Amino acid sequence: MIVLVVVAISFGGLVEIVPQFFLPETTKPIPGLKPMGAVELEGRDIYIREGCHVCHTQMVRPLQAEVERYGHYSVAGESVYEHPFLWGSKRTGPDLARVGKRYSDSWHKTHLHNPRSVVPESNMPSFPWLFENILDGKKTGRKMAALRVVGVPYTDADIASASELVKGVSEGDALIAYLQQLGTLLTYKR
Ligand code: HEC
Repeated sequence: MIVLVVVAISFGGLVEIVPQFFLPETTKPIPGLKPMGAVELEGRDIYIREGCHVCHTQMVRPLQAEVERYGHYSVAGESVYEHPFLWGSKRTGPDLARVGKRYSDSWHKTHLHNPRSVVPESNMPSFPWLFENILDGKKTGRKMAALRVVGVPYTDADIASASELVKGVSEGDALIAYLQQLGTLLTYKR
């Protein structure tokens, strides 16, 4: 009986999940989607390292309240080059899927130095060290090459120029470059 139950449930699961891997809506990039630039890619790794995704989702659900607050709901085709994806599930702070271009670079810099200086009631931690740590870009090309193996279309030229582009940029500025491109391809008038 147990064996039959396991077989039945596994089969049911496979029927639900496997077709998703082949649906064009979930596997095709939306028009205009490009692999992230070298600096943005390093910024994304800082985002992961500092645990930003633990407090912030990057997934606007197709519900009226969310779309009115954040903008166009998230679609799968925006995330096809994301490894790992950072949709998240816990919102201590607001969703960031469409935060790109909403604030200026200097707003982000002030906010990351000390969130309370721009949003007095904020309980987001300060990240001042990000602007002291300078990236050397030594691994950026290798990260791109690894992403290419899983299907992100980086060119040889992207990989060759990566470390030069990243060298000397602070972690904070790379993080801001990453934030500024988030969700900017799909817009929705609010
Ligand atoms: C402990 C939870 C927590 C962590 C960790 C955290 N944040 Fe926040 N964040 C918040 C809260 C709460 C707010 C809302 C108040 C504010 O704007 O400061 C916020 C707001 C923001 C905003 C403004 C969003 C908007 O639409 O107004 C950005 C951008 C942001 N965070 C980026 C980051 C980044 C980048 C990191 C990682 C370096 C990070 N956060 C880490 C809690 C967090």
